[in-house]
Amino acid sequence: MLKNLHNTDPNIHASIKAELERQRDGLEMIASENFVSEAVLEAMGSPLTNKYSEGYPHKRYYGGNEFIDQCEDLARDRAKELFNAEHANVQPHAGSQANMEAYFAILELGDTILAMDLSAGGHLTHGHPVSFSGKFYNVIHYGVDSKTHLIDMEQVRAIALEKKPKLILAGASAYPRSIDFKAFREIADEVGAYLMVDMAHIAGLVAAKIHPDPIPYADIVTTTTHKTLRGPRGAMILCKKEDRLHPEDKKNLAQKIDSAVFPGMQGGPLDHMIAAKAVSFKEALDPKFIEYQKQVVKNAKALEKVFKQEDITMVSGGTDNHLLLLDLSNLNISGKEAENALDNVGIYTNKNMVPFDKRKPTDPSGLRLGTPALTSRGLKEADMTEVGQLIAKILKNINSEEIIKEVKNKVKEITNKFPLYPNLEI
Ligand SMILES: Cc1ncc(COP(=O)(O)O)c(C=O)c1O
Repeated sequence: MLKNLHNTDPNIHASIKAELERQRDGLEMIASENFVSEAVLEAMGSPLTNKYSEGYPHKRYYGGNEFIDQCEDLARDRAKELFNAEHANVQPHAGSQANMEAYFAILELGDTILAMDLSAGGHLTHGHPVSFSGKFYNVIHYGVDSKTHLIDMEQVRAIALEKKPKLILAGASAYPRSIDFKAFREIADEVGAYLMVDMAHIAGLVAAKIHPDPIPYADIVTTTTHKTLRGPRGAMILCKKEDRLHPEDKKNLAQKIDSAVFPGMQGGPLDHMIAAKAVSFKEALDPKFIEYQKQVVKNAKALEKVFKQEDITMVSGGTDNHLLLLDLSNLNISGKEAENALDNVGIYTNKNMVPFDKRKPTDPSGLRLGTPALTSRGLKEADMTEVGQLIAKILKNINSEEIIKEVKNKVKEITNKFPLYPNLEI
């Protein structure tokens, strides 16, 4: 029991306890979520949060950083080893900051970026008008093919040749298929652009080498650490040492990235989170992590099979990675209705736009599902098949009290069979 917290602040204690119970008693299928290890939780809750350490290891603006340096050195070295990267900056507080810092490192305000459209699966920070990225830069977008729902590399090339972007960005939040980073690099080379990859969603799959690897092709790779990578909430930037397009500059690319993070965009790093990132990278370097990632994809394939059998439409017809995007138009329910109905039985998902969606973003036609979190709980293909069938049942019987009751009971059976943090007492 968290005795001190309970005594000092019973309200926050109660909310944390209730949230842990919610996580334990539900089936977490939000594609961007996962369950970190208790070792990662311990590092996050450590006294490292007390320290100020502006700067980088062995070059700080504050004294007393001997042990903080040890942690950040380990995090950087492990990140480089995990991804075979030339340089790693592990200080970005979140994925959105990492993207902003990458742009700041190589672009001037107003420069042109070519990135994936949000409605096709991209992210807000890839140039949506409501995000800093759409306000600070001239962003043009590519989408997916209207029939296959795959990225149309011919379209990417045609837009790049016409608009001559300074940066081409690959990576997505809701794209269920593999991305061909080599093809992106060929286009970047043809038009003299930088290539940046935001691998936030697929970083774990990349680390396990079961998704094409962006590191050999991209100048800069950003990622969150808390999705398939199963680390603490946060991000990092990996990059080449040299600036391929501007080798004459005083700073190389690695130095430009470091300056853009601090002092460009951030102040003191979150040292407890950097230590927790180091712990999660150590876990990701263990061969068991590769097995986990393979299971994530096998579980997504098991869901794909169920939805095919149930005749539920999937964007692109299925999945190659950890996520699926259902198009619910044929079932005559919206993504929001589906999300709410599933929430009600303890299955957590999120409404999502589908490509060429006719509905509005706040109540779109799609539902995004992912397998990283449930795979961390130990579910295998047969269990995931059962989960898929429960989802299909709810989606097809959204108002049936009988079905709702039946599914709630099944959810309970599954969560009891795969306990979450069985030794954690709050
Ligand atoms: C591809 C991609 N990039 C960046 C982010 C932003 O990460 P954060 O929420 O940590 O700012 C996300 C988050 O969902 C994402 O999917």
